[in-house]
Amino acid sequence: MCPCLSFWRTVHSGVFRQRRPGEPPLDKGWIPWLGHVLEFRRDTAKFLQGMMQKHGDVFTIQLGGYYVTFLQDPLSFGAFFKESREKLNFNIFSRELLARVFRYVGFSTDHSILEATSQKHLKGHGLQIMTESVMSNLQNLMLHNLGSGVNPNSWKEDGLFNYCYNIVFRAGYLALYGNAISQTEGDKVKAKAKDRTESEVLFHEICKYDQLFPNLVYGVLTPKERREAYRLTALFCDGLSMERMINKENISGWIWDMYHMRREQGMKELMIDRYMFVLLWASQGNTGPSSFWLIYYLLKHPDAMKVVRNEVLKVLKESGQEVRPGGPLVNITHEMLMKTPVLDSAVEETLRLVAAPLLTRAVLQDMTLRMADGRKFFIRKGDRIAVFPYIAVHIDPEIHPDPFTFKYDRFLTPEGTQKTDFYKRGKRVRFYTMPWGSGLSMCPGRFLATNEIKQFAFLMLLYLDFELINPDEKIPHIDPHRWGFGTMHPDREVQFRYRLRY
Ligand code: HEM
Repeated sequence: MCPCLSFWRTVHSGVFRQRRPGEPPLDKGWIPWLGHVLEFRRDTAKFLQGMMQKHGDVFTIQLGGYYVTFLQDPLSFGAFFKESREKLNFNIFSRELLARVFRYVGFSTDHSILEATSQKHLKGHGLQIMTESVMSNLQNLMLHNLGSGVNPNSWKEDGLFNYCYNIVFRAGYLALYGNAISQTEGDKVKAKAKDRTESEVLFHEICKYDQLFPNLVYGVLTPKERREAYRLTALFCDGLSMERMINKENISGWIWDMYHMRREQGMKELMIDRYMFVLLWASQGNTGPSSFWLIYYLLKHPDAMKVVRNEVLKVLKESGQEVRPGGPLVNITHEMLMKTPVLDSAVEETLRLVAAPLLTRAVLQDMTLRMADGRKFFIRKGDRIAVFPYIAVHIDPEIHPDPFTFKYDRFLTPEGTQKTDFYKRGKRVRFYTMPWGSGLSMCPGRFLATNEIKQFAFLMLLYLDFELINPDEKIPHIDPHRWGFGTMHPDREVQFRYRLRY
């Protein structure tokens, strides 16, 4: 069909669309085609809360040319996430996003490559190897001054968000994309120093990219921002290209396989470089901010800090290690991280409060959405269905009483094991938190991300004295623009001071 005709049909059907019997309530907004996109962008959570008050837990809204049905009843999520790929498709939406934001155009095999490499390298033995690599990079970034004569008693001041994001981003990046080679740099010490400086530059640039990201997603950049986005994309693609990476060692199997499988299938180098940037963004964009929130909530809740610290000390002692001046650096292994129910609960509680992914599927056939309470809704082919768990689940007071308060033990049973039973309308809620999404597109890096956050917390608690400069300051608001794959950023920095203990 002629593209102009197709365009006008789309516009025409959008403007004149009426709710049909059996369909969810329809709210088109007042701007033709754009619909509610401005309010949605301004504050997704607030806007969707308003829509739920107006229409209930299922409604269709117009957003930038698409009709999106929001499904906000957690008891009905199971059927939605299990729906066949022929009816609901994740890839279409993600392909469009990657093309628009990263100019990456992939193959139809992309998702199976991702599943296979993630199964091999981000679970089981592969996860243990990755966890070891994160540990050695965290040690290099956080503790390289230890015993070097730098006065351990001197306090340093920094923004807590900047500090956490910086260290965790750089450790994750080095663990995935490899380290400088000792032989090339002269010796191990020089190679480690190079890792520190090179990753610092990259972090600086990713912070600039973070600022542009929300506008990139919506395609509403000023010419200046567009030029900056192109510059940054080119810089990252170059820095992460295989041409550069062959000068590194310890490149993770995850990155290595992802590169070679694409190459074997005939993908051009430029496109593979873009994908390497996609993976950097997907893997590092949320892990650092989540680490910040964990440390920050612990600082704001000394009772929680005390219990978590005791658990950390206990696990360290059981491993036969100790932190002592002049002694070897402690090694926080995957096995040790499996013995921390209190810290696990604190991490889960942190993600409940700050993780706000928007989970979207394209509707490929006319279909019926079946709700747990027996209601049915007809959904049209060409529309989208989305779930925003932050409102539907994370802050629902029926599922999580007192939902805006950080309770480190919310996910602990009285016996001290993981709590998994949460209820709504007297029924057990299976999806009681969803920071990693669910179904086919569920985050493949969730186990590694959790390990990274926990390793970082271990090292902070074991090696640093740290405190907030203004302990009575109110918790900063969460930046509502940062929805997407995961975690929301604070809208202002929190100052803290720290010093090495030894
Ligand atoms: C706290 C940290 C993280 C959070 C909150 C997070 C969250 C998410 C969410 C919600 C999705 C699914 C989006 C959707 O269904 O639409 C996702 C996808 C993804 N994540 Fe993560 N993630 C984190 C860390 C990581 C790490 C460390 C890695 C890799 C090592 C990673 C790799 C990916 C990839 C490759 C995808 C795309 C999956 C697909 O296309 O099927 N993430 N992440």
